[in-house]
Amino acid sequence: MIRPNICVVKNSSDLAAAAADAVIHAAKDAIQARGRFSIALSGGSTPEKAYELLAQPPKIAQLDWSRVHIIFGDERFVPLDDPRSNYGMAARTLLGHVPIPPSQILAVPTHLASANAAARAYSHLVAGHFAMNPDGPPPRLDLILLGLGDDGHTASLFPGKSSLDEHRAWFIHSSPGVLPPPVDRITATFPLLNACRLVIFLVAGEKKKDIARAVLTDQSHKYPAARISPDDGKVLWLLDAAANGAVNHCSELPSLGGQA
Ligand code: 6PG
Repeated sequence: MIRPNICVVKNSSDLAAAAADAVIHAAKDAIQARGRFSIALSGGSTPEKAYELLAQPPKIAQLDWSRVHIIFGDERFVPLDDPRSNYGMAARTLLGHVPIPPSQILAVPTHLASANAAARAYSHLVAGHFAMNPDGPPPRLDLILLGLGDDGHTASLFPGKSSLDEHRAWFIHSSPGVLPPPVDRITATFPLLNACRLVIFLVAGEKKKDIARAVLTDQSHKYPAARISPDDGKVLWLLDAAANGAVNHCSELPSLGGQA
């Protein structure tokens, strides 16, 4: 695992603020360098507050939303208006409140007959949007937000599951792990996750302390989250003091320049 940047802030509110600032910063860099910003959103409770902050008027104005392209790093195989849907959460907290063209929000087609079919269709949808071949190398997204599960999962890549061995497809079906909600998932694979320019893990709360330490010191790749190591990109871990088990040791975000 490449050495990640680690930033520990005081509490979950500061974590949300730091995450929102990091998204704005990455977006500005990407738009300046390439004219657009592509981001994969995560589900889970930790990013919710950051999404809500990004949707506040002072923050909305800091980002040129007409140049933002959104995909989902993972999704639960439920209708998009189901309370468990990651798209639904992002729509309620963020996407419904910012001036982003709807055609630039790529939801996973969970109305299809199976999670497998949805994963295949999503790879094609993402490929079509970025004018790429879904059977070729994955897109190089500007930013992927990820969470850390209590069992070391990230996105919907659960420990011990065959989805961890996928080396070609961009999105695949993933059977649920032991954590709720126990529904089938569609997840980005390591090839897609490790092709991006910047990954930011958002980790909050005392219950994440042991697993965060285990993942950050995992040399054997036992935990899926420890296998996030972009080939030509950077990783930032944003933790609150409770998840880190120590006091604040990062008053400002480390510079992650050079993403072009
Ligand atoms: C999901 C996720 C998942 C999540 C982690 C952490 O759809 O559930 O994308 O990987 O990020 O389980 O979740 P919390 O932020 O709620 O702890």
